[in-house]
Amino acid sequence: MHISENVSLRQYNSFGFDVQAEYFCSATSIEQVREALEWRRRNNKALLVLGGGSNTVFTRNVSALVLQIAIDDLTIGSNSAENLPTEKLVSKHPTTDNMGSNAENPSTTVVTAGAGCNWHELVEKTVFSGSYGLENLALIPGNAGAAPIQNIGAYGKELCDNLVSVSVLHQHTGETAVLRHQECEFAYRHSFFKTTAGRDWIVTGITLELSRDDKPVVTYQALVDAMADTAESTEPTAEEVFNQVCSLRRSKLPDPNIIGNAGSFFKNPLVTCQQVDTLLAQYPNLPVYPHSSDYRKLPAAWLIDQAGWKGYRCGPVGVHDQQALVLVHFGAGNGQQIATLADEICLDIKSRFNIDLEREPQIY
Ligand code: EPU
Repeated sequence: MHISENVSLRQYNSFGFDVQAEYFCSATSIEQVREALEWRRRNNKALLVLGGGSNTVFTRNVSALVLQIAIDDLTIGSNSAENLPTEKLVSKHPTTDNMGSNAENPSTTVVTAGAGCNWHELVEKTVFSGSYGLENLALIPGNAGAAPIQNIGAYGKELCDNLVSVSVLHQHTGETAVLRHQECEFAYRHSFFKTTAGRDWIVTGITLELSRDDKPVVTYQALVDAMADTAESTEPTAEEVFNQVCSLRRSKLPDPNIIGNAGSFFKNPLVTCQQVDTLLAQYPNLPVYPHSSDYRKLPAAWLIDQAGWKGYRCGPVGVHDQQALVLVHFGAGNGQQIATLADEICLDIKSRFNIDLEREPQIY
């Protein structure tokens, strides 16, 4: 495994910011991850773990070892228990049950993917090989390893709906373990891996359970409407949903290979029912989504759009003109400019709606 010095991270982050990593290496196996960690320990360097780079805003050069996890083994297995990870489980909550997968169930497929597998390719391969459940999550940028960290979700599904377990390696001890679904603390765009304790673990792979029954989830209104226009029957197939989601995303979201971006820059905020009533009195068109008995979810895109930011441009950075949630980098800008724009938007949304927007990407 080779450790390089002074490497541009431009091609390793979806915003395309041209910052330098003091040291960089790409690990294609657990052994290589361990070697990199050992090198870092001996040289007393900080560590920054990078997946597909689609959720990071680099505002400065990185004085650390940047470790790209490039383990890309993929098994779209039968439902055999042989495909389940065999490492010991993390005993955060000791339980006696199995991995959480119904390994005996002939109507499911167990998929194991290295953290470095490209997410969209994984979705495409599963759907077109007759294993269903990920079709709504097509075209989400990034790698499989990042998927559980923010519990990626779109068009009515979240990763946690199909996730069995996450294989991890402790960045200080080198210990490997497997976290079961129930130990991952999944919530909307949240997991254990975003907590202080969770950040010590490097995700090396994920195990999913998919269905062989072609019964896609079509509940998200924008998807329901689009399917009504194009689907050949009232019971669309997973392949049709996959194609529709790709086409919806291509029409609204910029391709990071053309315009730098990190997808949604802000989470959709959760607000109390009382606050919703106050807002509705002033903004009767405000879309409101159910969340829990006490909280409702509001679309951050609507708030930002309403505040007039959609299509705003400030030199090399701006707000996408088709989707107000997405901040874009047109080229030759830097991460500080995106961070400043995000701060301005947050202040404005706070003063107009009394809502604190939460940034999704990591600002480094
Ligand atoms: N809207 C606006 N202006 C806009 C965009 C949207 O007013 O510029 C309104 C829409 O009219 C709609 C509402 O906002 O009433 C919601 O819009 P949309 O269905 O496009 O979803 P979103 O809340 O903007 C979320 C996810 C996306 C995911 C879509 C589809 C978050 C933070 N974002 O966006 O995720 O693709 O739903 O499920 O939850 C991502 O994480 O990178 C991402 C793109």
